[in-house]
Order: sequence, then C-alpha cells, then structure tokens
Amino acid sequence: MSNDTSPTMRPYARHLLICENGDCAPPEAAALLQQQFLELARERGLTKLANPQRIKCTLTDCLGVCSGGPILAVYPDGIWYHHVDAAALARIITEHLIGGRPVEELIFHRLTTEPVEAPHGEVATTDEGAATPAPTAAERETRGTLPESTPQAREQRKAAREKRVTKGLLIVNTGNGKGKTTAALGVITRAWGRDMRIGGIQFFKHENANYGELRALKRMGVTLTPMGDGFTWTSRDMDETQARALHGWEVAKEHIASGDYDIFVLDEFTYVMHFGWLDAAEVVAWLRANKPPMLHLIITGRDAPPVLIEAADLVTEMREIKHPYRDQGIRAQKGVEF
Ligand code: FES
Repeated sequence: MSNDTSPTMRPYARHLLICENGDCAPPEAAALLQQQFLELARERGLTKLANPQRIKCTLTDCLGVCSGGPILAVYPDGIWYHHVDAAALARIITEHLIGGRPVEELIFHRLTTEPVEAPHGEVATTDEGAATPAPTAAERETRGTLPESTPQAREQRKAAREKRVTKGLLIVNTGNGKGKTTAALGVITRAWGRDMRIGGIQFFKHENANYGELRALKRMGVTLTPMGDGFTWTSRDMDETQARALHGWEVAKEHIASGDYDIFVLDEFTYVMHFGWLDAAEVVAWLRANKPPMLHLIITGRDAPPVLIEAADLVTEMREIKHPYRDQGIRAQKGVEF
C-alpha cells in the first residue's frame, strides 16, 4: 500500500491569538475582533487560498495577562498587543502584518527583541476554518518562550484565573440608533439559556402591548411588564404618562431590591430622568444602596443622563447610520421592529 496520501501542511506565516477567557475583556469582544480580522483580511484580498502567505487567527484560552484586554498576540513575532479594538486591529494589520513595523504604542509585551519577518516578506493570508496545529514545544523554544510554558507563568496564570471577578453590572444602552431594547432582549435570551431569573419593566409601552418580543418572553416564562400608556408624543395626557412612569419606578424598586432576580431590565427608563420626572443622581444613589451586588441591571433609552453613564459598568451608544423609514419610507415591520 502506498503512503502517497499522507496529509500535507499548508504553511502559515503568522498566527494571531486572541484571548477569549473573558477576565480582562468580554468574550464577545474577542469573537468580534476575530470576525473583524477576517473581514479586514478579506478586504485586503488576503483570504485567497492561492496566496502562499497566510495568517491564522484563532481564539484561545487565557493568555494569562488578565489586564487591558482584548489581548492579541502575534506569533512567531512574539509581540503582544493590548486594548485592541477595531481601529487598533486595522493598524496592526496595515502597519505590522503588512508593513512589517509593529505598532509600538499598543505593545505591552515582547518575547523577542528583533522583529520577525514573515517568511515571504509581507503578510500571509487568512484561511477561515483551516486547522493550524499549535506550535510544538520545540517551536516554542526556538521562537521564544510562550508565557504558559514556564512554571512561573503557569503560577501567574493560575492566580489570575482564581482572582476572576464577578459582579452584577449596571448596563446602559443609549443613543439615537435602533437596537437598545433589542440588545437588552439579547441578554435576556442568553440569561434565559443559563436558567437565570429574569424580569423587567417597560416604562412607556402600553400595558396592553403584545409585541413579538413580549409574546416570545411569555412563552419563555419571562415577565417584562409594560406599564405605560404609549410613548410621550402620542400621549394625550402627560400627567397620566408621568404618573404611570413614576409608579413603574416604584414597582421596579421593589423588584430590584427583592433579590428575586439575576437580570432586570428597565426599558426606556432614561426618559423618566431626561424629562426631569426623576432626579438621575437620586436614582443612582438608590441603586448604589439597594441593587443586590450580583444583579445585572440593564437600562435602555436615549439621552442617558451623565450621572448614570458615570455610574454604569457598561455603556453602549447606538448610532443611526441608515434607517429604512428615513431613507426609503419603509415603515416598521412585524418581526423586525415589533
Ligand atoms: S482574560 Fe485577559 S489575557 Fe486572558
């Protein structure tokens, strides 16, 4: 029998590792970074299989730094970058991987003093889905020592893992773009999949609202209670709207302080503060004093007050770039908007 069918290795010029452990940056940030890498590499025509110069980009177990994530390591260069966002990634690709000059101000650790050139003088392509064997111990020896390969580094890594901090987050989804409530619903879905205790109040949705998300939540056994009379610009009676919103806050306070929830959503709650019906500083002070430490509280709505943003652990601003109604006159559609 012939041995002609032995597998062949397709060489990679570089291997990018992105830590997805989640201690110093959310695992979602690592996954997003990997996705962005693939998109940028594609844009630059670097994904063609025919190209002999290739880069492998993989998510990895903890790189053992646990500070200043997302962390991205470039091998065999032995260069570690921290705080890597989309802009930093674009620079790393253009200046380091293509241009051959590491982005000095983003480097926090270097395993070698001399930059390592890609085998073919410039960047290799990526190849989504192709398997790359991890470097062997011998390869690691010759390239410089990977942090997890020394007893001291293993100890550091273990200590970092044991120090893992968990905390109930105050999350704010704000901005003029769509997706603030939708993002909160995404977290609810994730938490539901983890058998967590979920609740919430929708401050302005009519109490008889029966939107798609509410139907879905009902089937999931999750209560997100609409307590409003419709949104303010359709309200005939602003006093009624305000009274309902303030009542909603009283109900919310009871739920939040009860300890009965792991995740609680205050949907469109920013408006209650923005309209001056509640003092934002007082709301924040109340949350500081009464929110159970492990409760994740999500607040949505435009115009989040600065004091709330200051107090929050995670703030995301949705920015509208295109809108089907504004650009094409397409109204809200079932299953997408409601
Ligand atoms: S979680 Fe930060 S390096 Fe792994």
